[in-house]
Amino acid sequence: MSNRIPLLTVAVSFAMLAAVIFWVGTRDQSAPTPAQAKTANAAPAARGDTTESATKSEDVAVSGNAASERSEPLPGAAQPGAASAADDFAPPARSEIPDDEFGAMVRKGRDIFTDTQQHADQFVGNDLQCANCHLDEGRRPDSAPLWAAWAMYPAYRGKNKHVNDFAERIQGCFRYSMNGTPPPRGDEVLVALESYAYWLASGAPVAKNLPGRGYPELEAPEQPPSFTRGKQVFADHCALCHGSDGQGQRAADGSLAFPPLWGPRSYNWGAGMHRVNTAAGFIKANMPLGAATLSDQQAWDVARFIDSQERPQDPRFTGSVSETAEQYHGEHSMYGQTVNGVVLGQNAPPSGTAAKVNQP
Ligand code: HEC
Ligand code: HEC
Repeated sequence: MSNRIPLLTVAVSFAMLAAVIFWVGTRDQSAPTPAQAKTANAAPAARGDTTESATKSEDVAVSGNAASERSEPLPGAAQPGAASAADDFAPPARSEIPDDEFGAMVRKGRDIFTDTQQHADQFVGNDLQCANCHLDEGRRPDSAPLWAAWAMYPAYRGKNKHVNDFAERIQGCFRYSMNGTPPPRGDEVLVALESYAYWLASGAPVAKNLPGRGYPELEAPEQPPSFTRGKQVFADHCALCHGSDGQGQRAADGSLAFPPLWGPRSYNWGAGMHRVNTAAGFIKANMPLGAATLSDQQAWDVARFIDSQERPQDPRFTGSVSETAEQYHGEHSMYGQTVNGVVLGQNAPPSGTAAKVNQP
């Protein structure tokens, strides 16, 4: 892939790339940047968490980031004496994974989550890792953190019109976001990911929608999202890391430093991130990485731009783009729409093509 990146771009971005790779590698231990803290703050307040929102937001920012680990000795006990432990929920520190059989499974789940390519490659059909979209190992608020998800299942999902347990929810991310083949029920990969999520949720209340869950929902933008403006936002704020062709960039050792945003190795047309509103919320809260300062309008525009690019087919493809669009794609999807004279989805490579599954 790297040979498709123009040499000049590589040369120009090399220093910054190196700096970011270093930052990505060390951020576990580092305190959040002001920008990150600010983003983590924004969502709970914006969600109408009216009571003492200022104080509470601060708590969320602290408790939801790695900062809490260095100061808090006990799992889930980030806010001793707090009236509502739920609103101040913090996952246990990494160092607190128990040293027993259960802890070994939690570690396995964490490895799969952060390096899915390495530890669950037979189920993956693109270049992504779970943690590319669930940042900071699935711990970061407003980045669909696992600790907020665990106790919200079983739940009815409109997407497949039945009640899903947690394992099935994870299978969904393998099928769509990872463009792969979901591990079968009972497979150790699922058990490990469940164990990791369950452990992260230690002490979290059951069936309570915790602040920081999912990605923030943005208000509808003032102006309808624009491909043209989005293209400019992309060039100015995203291309440096994700590549001017959106295909991501690899480090010298071949590992993927920056994930692809579209194309055959990215999430497919059935993934949540392909919806412009979902991508806009994720981007507003989390991108550009380490400096998430875009306006809502910019986030909507760039989301519209990246989600108007071809990517692997929707696994539910009926054989007809218009029919598939009709059945499965709502107002925030560009699938089946004509952009620059081309119907999106029409030239999509088949879903799961890149899967490394050994067919019997
Ligand atoms: C391309 C981005 C992307 C990747 C990669 C990805 N996910 Fe997701 N995931 C999402 C989106 C989008 C949602 C829905 C969030 C929302 O609706 O706010 C989601 C939701 C979830 C949820 C439910 C969250 C909740 O609060 O209900 C779980 C659990 C989950 N993902 C696990 C995984 C696992 C495990 C992997 C790797 C096998 C993975 N995801 C890979 C984008 C991604
Ligand atoms: C400083 C480098 C950097 C910049 C600039 C940046 N990103 Fe990212 N982006 C990343 C990294 C690294 C990840 C994976 C995060 C992780 O694994 O912790 C990521 C993940 C993503 C993802 C989810 C994974 C995927 O491949 O789909 C999306 C979507 C995304 N970025 C969009 C954007 C957009 C849009 C912009 C510009 C507004 C942007 N990014 C700017 C580094 C960057």
